[in-house]
Amino acid sequence: MAYTVFKLTDYSASTLLKTFADAKLAFGDGMREVKSEAEWKVFRDLWMARKNGILTQINDQFKKAPKEAKREFGQHLNELKQYVESEIDGRHKFSEDGSGQLAVQFESVDISLPGVRRPIGAEHPVIKTSNEMVRVFQKLGYSVADGPVVETDYYNFEALNFPPNHPARDTQDTLFISGQEGKAQRERLLLRTHTSPVQIRTMEKMRPPIRIVIPGTVHRNDPADASHSPMFHQIEGLAVDTNITFGDLKGTLDHAMKEFFGSSVKTSFRPSFFPFTEPSAEMFVSCFICGGSGKRGAEPCRPCKQTGWIEILGCGMVDPNVFEFVKDNGYDPRKVSGFAFGMGADRIALLKYGVDDIQLFFQGDVRFLQQWA
Ligand code: DAH
Repeated sequence: MAYTVFKLTDYSASTLLKTFADAKLAFGDGMREVKSEAEWKVFRDLWMARKNGILTQINDQFKKAPKEAKREFGQHLNELKQYVESEIDGRHKFSEDGSGQLAVQFESVDISLPGVRRPIGAEHPVIKTSNEMVRVFQKLGYSVADGPVVETDYYNFEALNFPPNHPARDTQDTLFISGQEGKAQRERLLLRTHTSPVQIRTMEKMRPPIRIVIPGTVHRNDPADASHSPMFHQIEGLAVDTNITFGDLKGTLDHAMKEFFGSSVKTSFRPSFFPFTEPSAEMFVSCFICGGSGKRGAEPCRPCKQTGWIEILGCGMVDPNVFEFVKDNGYDPRKVSGFAFGMGADRIALLKYGVDDIQLFFQGDVRFLQQWA
């Protein structure tokens, strides 16, 4: 219903009150009838236009009002103006689906309500562990390198001395990207099963000597259980120079473990096999939970299975066959030697924090993760 501005003859307090209340109601009715952006503009101009808008017309009435009524009239007028302006001021949005619905009709803020608490995030325990381990090597002068999680067969296997069809590939439970059959084998894509391919990628880019650590995500086709996850994290290391020996490997890793787990841990190296290192070893640290005794009071120590030792990583001297793949960048196997190692960050975090199920790291339950905040 169209609203026509009043023309007053009676300026009594009660008439003013009623007149302005009517104007306010008319504004509210008019606003409810608005159904589109176009109608909204018309409505806004009807009330707010400088020239002949309703507020302007009422203002003209104010000018004609007798002196004695000015104060009262002015107060009502100001109040109406404020109301109209605040309702119109940027509060209306039409939903974009063309339905003509007001998306937000009256948006009001109750400033007495408590605010929304936005907690500060915290480092994830696995990333925290990984960062701490990386830091230990950075202090020894190592720099950080990284590479792609979706990798080619060449970097994940071939250049690491896993020839096509070699049985050592079976140990890696690889997740292959589908639809790669049309490509040459070395170009086929897969999810990297270890961070070792970054050894090759970095040696292609940087000439020796190099000392690098490589933290990163890897995948394997392992069903999830308390100690396995198809996605997990590794920290890789590589040092190449002239005259690097197994003694350097042992000294470096022994120092790193003491720095990470505490100066009382011992290390033990046992023969192993990896295609890309020769000789290869598994490194154990004395159990930092039971102090190497295999017992916790009268109870058996579970993390070390009562052996007093915990397996932490694989390592070895870089196989000359690996250097052959990057020979042209200064890695002549007759001139340089190096050592490498790789460990699981998730496993170390499990042990370090006494968590008994790796799945907890990946379920995103804030109650669990908050313990590291
Ligand atoms: N890439 C190996 C794995 O995931 C771990 C490893 C062993 C890395 C020995 C190394 C190494 O660099 O020298 O099973």
